[in-house]
Amino acid sequence: MHGTIFTLLKRYVQTQYDHSAWVRLLEAAGLSATDFDHKSVYPDEHMYRLIGEAATMTGLSADELHEKFGEYLVPDLMYMYQKLLDPNWTTLDMLEHTENTMHRQVRAEHAENNPPVLSVTRLSPDELFIDYVSGRRMGALAVGMVRGMASYYNEADRIEVEPTTSENGEHVRIRVRRLA
Ligand code: HEM
Repeated sequence: MHGTIFTLLKRYVQTQYDHSAWVRLLEAAGLSATDFDHKSVYPDEHMYRLIGEAATMTGLSADELHEKFGEYLVPDLMYMYQKLLDPNWTTLDMLEHTENTMHRQVRAEHAENNPPVLSVTRLSPDELFIDYVSGRRMGALAVGMVRGMASYYNEADRIEVEPTTSENGEHVRIRVRRLA
């Protein structure tokens, strides 16, 4: 997985907890790297271990942690890829275009990058569903990222996010609705 995601996980742990929590987490996961390079790709297994150990340390479930981390990730990712954003988009438009803009760009940057496939079906101006497909089984991260998008666009109180399948599968369907 992309070094940026690891860097943001490190920052998440440091800001939500503290630096020593991050050091303890690395130790518990049996990892020695203290910094991750945003141009490098690291084994997915390291991310699973870090999230798994973080779940043990905080008492939260891995799904809850993925969701919280996904929410946290969004502003930084949006900042990094801001050139690809259309200023007219709000939450649902952004979700509809992620696959063909952000994730397409991520795939082009590095042969080893492999973001999930997000097939979006727009049912109406105010409703869509996302079919998430990835062998990484990180649908809970996707759910958190949708919430993060809603906050980014100041629509958090109007956007309803509901996984309609288990969040842990290789295929996860997420329904997103904007309330009037
Ligand atoms: C600004 C918009 C976005 C950017 C720049 C972005 C970028 C990225 C990058 C760099 C990765 C790592 C890929 C890799 O290591 O191979 C990734 C993974 C991921 N992205 Fe996105 N993404 C964006 C929006 C979204 C949205 C809206 C969702 C969910 C609806 C999403 C879901 C995920 C998930 C769940 C992963 C983890 C890897 C996996 O499950 O296979 N992303 N994304």
